[in-house]
Parts: sequence; structure tokens; C-alpha cells
Amino acid sequence: LQRPSIPEGLRRLPGPKPLPIIGNVLEMSTNPHLSLTAMSERYGPVYQIQIGMRPVVVLSGSETVRQALIKQGEEFSSRPDLYSFRFINDGKSLAFSSDQAGVWRARRKLAMSALRSFSTLEGSDLGYSCVLEEHICKEGEYLVKQLSSVMEASGSFDPFRHIVVSVANVICGMCFGRRYNHDDQELLSLVNLSDEFVQVAGSGNPVDFIPFLRFLPSQTMKNFLKINARFQNFVQRIVTEHYRTYDKNNIRDITDSLIDHCEDRKLDENSNVQVSDEKIVGIVNDLFGAGFDTISTALSWAVVYLVAYPDTQEKLHQEMKDNVGLERTPLLSDKPNLPFLEAFIMELFRHSSFLPFTIPHCTSKDTALNGYFIPKDTCVFINQWQVNHDPALWKDPYSFIPERFLDADGMTVNKMDAEKVMIFGMGKRRCIGEAIGRTEVFLFLAILIQKLHFHELPGHPLDMTPEYGLTMKHKRCQLRASLRLCQED
Ligand code: HEM
Repeated sequence: LQRPSIPEGLRRLPGPKPLPIIGNVLEMSTNPHLSLTAMSERYGPVYQIQIGMRPVVVLSGSETVRQALIKQGEEFSSRPDLYSFRFINDGKSLAFSSDQAGVWRARRKLAMSALRSFSTLEGSDLGYSCVLEEHICKEGEYLVKQLSSVMEASGSFDPFRHIVVSVANVICGMCFGRRYNHDDQELLSLVNLSDEFVQVAGSGNPVDFIPFLRFLPSQTMKNFLKINARFQNFVQRIVTEHYRTYDKNNIRDITDSLIDHCEDRKLDENSNVQVSDEKIVGIVNDLFGAGFDTISTALSWAVVYLVAYPDTQEKLHQEMKDNVGLERTPLLSDKPNLPFLEAFIMELFRHSSFLPFTIPHCTSKDTALNGYFIPKDTCVFINQWQVNHDPALWKDPYSFIPERFLDADGMTVNKMDAEKVMIFGMGKRRCIGEAIGRTEVFLFLAILIQKLHFHELPGHPLDMTPEYGLTMKHKRCQLRASLRLCQED
């Protein structure tokens, strides 16, 4: 590799010395969020590692990340062309593909508008502020029933296994206008396979950077291809059915609205961005995929934290009892009266940092950051985990203390502190499902805390060590739950 010449006035990036062929792969270990955080203490907030033969710039520190993604957003918002990304959504993913800026921008705008219109629609039941709230509340109530009946039948349950179906049903409702039963084998086999997807898609997977590894047999990679194919198949069948039954005067869901956009565009001869129908309708694949894995991972962690911190669980239930009561389902409008729940969610996002890195970024032209030269097409990792555990930002960063987000009166969440938590990325690539994500985590959790009391299963101690990936999950576990209302009766 030729080292690029550095323009005058700029410095060469610091970083560990790479080994031939493999670069710094060994130093990255199996937990890159930890090893790259440790390296930032040595080399500072902007440094370079080499994975295989490819240089990768790692950004940490809130100010540096903000400078790159917001102030210099245009230069840092592309995606690198990585091997594993070519298989996600058949290489046509909105989130992972290295689409040209114009195409990505047009698709992102469409996706945002479809999400907004289908989440803010009026629900069929006037008791809810919108259809999203209605879907979540109904699925939340159903989840409570489901967990209670599994408890009765088996004495314990695997939280992820059940939460993922409820969460998938909310996004399926919006995207496809349908829901699935908790024992639907097709949906279960799809959503329960996400573990291997996130392992391969996590930042720093050597196979993305060292070409000869692609020729070695790997069960994980085989499974990754299988999951992508199955996912693609599942969505394609639903899309085909939507095309067959599409009626311009009755747009039923996000899939219909994307088909409708393709039809309208055919009539619009002035349309100037060339995006294929396949890429437009394929957006629904991204929304469905991103819409269930992230939120179910967050909620499953939330239940595990409730079990690990029983005093916090009691305090949350008490807050619910005092401010909402135990009779009616909690609603979005209850949020201002549940500050401790909001603080718990912020601390859950910060402490678990279950999305340790954003999806990798890439520079769109030669640029400079903090006085260092970064050439065009350099892959950039953004270390959200480091930002959320930076001792310069957080007192006692490794302890789980929801109260850190409350003002001295204990009644209000400190917005400035809440904004320091980084879990949805920032700037031009910031998550487009953030509002839905925050709404779902709040409402599902409010319902679970109101109705159920979670405990450890005797003889099965909790293991909270995260498994590294695009989203980090806790190990599958068995927990117990008892109904709160029964106890109070
Ligand atoms: C991108 C987090 C929920 C759709 C992202 C990124 C993060 C993230 C970190 C990458 C940002 C970057 O590359 O800089 C989360 C978290 C969620 C969540 C923590 C839930 C708690 C959702 C939901 C949807 C969604 C519910 C859709 C319904 C997307 C899409 C992108 C994205 C399409 C790609 C945006 C782009 O590349 O322009 N999300 N997400 N996310 N998210 Fe989310």
C-alpha cells in the first residue's frame, strides 16, 4: 500500500503499527468496542488502524464525532463498499449499500415520509393518539398474556423469543398491514435468526477487509447468506401479493405507498433522480429489518436490567402505580408523568450501548479532522460505546444509575444529559426510525412494568456479558415473571 502524501499543514493519523497482511486484527480482539475504546485512550479521538490491508479511521469523543457527522456531515456520510453488505437486501439496502449520494438521499426521504405518514395515521380506536400507539398498546397487552401463559405452562420464559414477535408485529402492521401469532413458524424462524446476521454485520468483521478469508469455509457466513436469502424471500412474497391487490384508492400500508410512488413517478416525466422500482419498494425490506431487531434487543436488555436491579424495578412500578394506576393501559401522554421510566431508558441505552458502533461510514472526498488528513474513500468507524462510557462525560460510567438523568428534584429528566447519550447515530445518517424506536421502547416497557414482576430463575444466574455485533445481545436466558395485578388483588 502506498501511503498517501499529506497536504501541508495537516498531520498523519496516529495509530498502532500494523502487521503485514492482517494489520491490527489481533489487537481488535473479539470485543472491538472495548479494544478500540482502549486505543482511543492511547491515540486520541481520531486514529487509524489497519484491518487486513485496509486503513480504517476510528472516531471517539463526543466533540470529534459531532464535528465529523454534523459540521462536516457531507464529507463523512457515505458508506464503504464492504463484502458482507453486498448480501444485505441483495446489495440494494438503503442503510448498508454504497449507493450514490443522490440515490441514497431520494430513498431516505421516501422512507422517512412513508414511516411518518403510517405512524401518525389516526387509529381505528379513538382512545389512542395514532395508529402506532394503538398497535404497540395492543401488542403489549398481548405480550403480557403470552408471557403469563408461558409461565403457567413452563415456569420460565426466554425474553427475546417473545418480545421479538410482538415488536415484529408492530412494524409488520405498518409495512405489510398484518400481524402474526406468537407461534407462527415462518415469522419465528425469521426473527429468531437475527443473532448471526448482527454478528457478521458488526463493525470490524475481518471477512470484510481480508479477501482470502472469503474462500475459507465458515458456518457463520453460510448462515448469514441463508438469513439474507430467507429474509428477501419473505418480503418479496408479501410485496408480490401487494402488487397483485394494489388499489390506488386504498393505500393500506407502507408497501402500498411505495408501490404508489413508483406508479406516480411513471406519470411524472420531470422526475430527475433515477431510482429503480426495485430499489424503491426494497426500502420496505430495510424498514422491516431495522424495525424489529433494534427494538427487541433494547427491550430484551431492559427486562434483564429489571431483573439485575430489583430496587430499580420496584421504583419503576411504584412510579407507574402513583402516576398512571394499574387499571388502564399506559399511553404516550403519560410520558411527562413517568420521569424515572424515561431516565431508566436513557441509562439502558447508555450503559448497554447495544449498538456499539454506527453502521460504518466512509469519506466522500479528501478531508481533515482535528488537523489530521483523511483521504477519500476511507472507512470510518464511529464508536458510540466510547462516547457513552467516556469518563470526561459521565461520572462513574460503568455503573448503572438511572437517577443520573434526573434533576435534583427527581421529577424531571435533564435534557442536556439525555442528549449526550449516543445510540441512534447523528447527522445525515442518523437513524430514521428514532421516533418509532423511542415510542416502542417507552410504551412496551411501561406496559410490562405495570403488569409484570420479573425475577431470576433459581439456579440460572444472569450473564450480562454482551455478545459483540452490529447490535449486541445478552446471552439467551430463562426468566420468571408474575402478574402484578394478581398480587395486588
Ligand atoms: C440507521 C439505531 C430503530 C431504520 C441506524 C443507525 C443507528 C440506528 C445507530 C446508524 C446510523 C449511522 O450509520 O450513523 C437504532 C436504534 C433503534 C433503531 C438504537 C431502536 C431503539 C429503527 C427503526 C427503524 C430504523 C424502528 C425503521 C422502522 C433505520 C434505517 C437506517 C438506520 C433505515 C439507515 C439510515 C441511513 O443509512 O440513511 N439506526 N435504530 N431504525 N435505522 Fe435505526
